[in-house]
Amino acid sequence: MLSTKLLAQSASKYLAATATWGVGPFCTTLPSLSHPKKIALPTGGKLETPSFLPWGPISATARSKPLVPVRYGHTDLSVPDFSEYRRAESQQTDKRSNDLGRKAATYAVTLGGGVVGIHLAKNSVVGLLSSMSATADVLAMANIEVDLSMIPEGKNMIIKWRGKPLFIRNRSSDEIEEVRGVDVTSLRDPQHDHERVVREQWLVVIGVCTHLGCVPISNAGDYGGYYCPCHGSHYDASGRVRKGPAPLNLEVPHYEFQTDTMLVVG
Ligand code: FES
Repeated sequence: MLSTKLLAQSASKYLAATATWGVGPFCTTLPSLSHPKKIALPTGGKLETPSFLPWGPISATARSKPLVPVRYGHTDLSVPDFSEYRRAESQQTDKRSNDLGRKAATYAVTLGGGVVGIHLAKNSVVGLLSSMSATADVLAMANIEVDLSMIPEGKNMIIKWRGKPLFIRNRSSDEIEEVRGVDVTSLRDPQHDHERVVREQWLVVIGVCTHLGCVPISNAGDYGGYYCPCHGSHYDASGRVRKGPAPLNLEVPHYEFQTDTMLVVG
């Protein structure tokens, strides 16, 4: 009854609306409305179900049908004309421009940019690497020359090398004989004396106790070599640990003799 009345009002060809009812949970309670009905409405037309329905009246309002977006093209804008500034050959859109002048400029810009980029990259890498290298004072102390003629026989000289004490000992023949006669298998850190020296007269070791890093006293201890008073480690005249808690022999750095009296350490 209601739909017939509203269909009569759907004259407009531009506007339409759809109202659907009889769907959802009401279908089960009202079998007669179980099939959706589509009804055309004019714009602003209102559809309302009878109020005696158990859920009360349902209303729907029509809206305009063509819901397509509208574009407003501004075709009246003027575009600047740069033809006056463009080369003649570049204005021919159907030909390839072979102007060598243009290409040369392009190549020059590319080449210049590449050279500058490579230069900057090289400077960055050099700066990064140089920041990681040793400082100048460390490099200056990397190698040290020692005049051995200043060290009397049986004496030990201590010099600072790379921030550590360096022991250089002019061993007497008795000391050499004593350290070479030791049974290596009886040592905690087994090393023969000839493995620890380049020339038997000269012992060169780093004067840092291998226990906890104290500086041993030279010409002291039970074996006449070095003695660490911190916890009582004894080293012989070859720098080998003979007694006490030190686990290893004194470290031997790299060195070489330039002459009989000139030693280079490092
Ligand atoms: Fe030398 Fe402990 S540091 S014995």
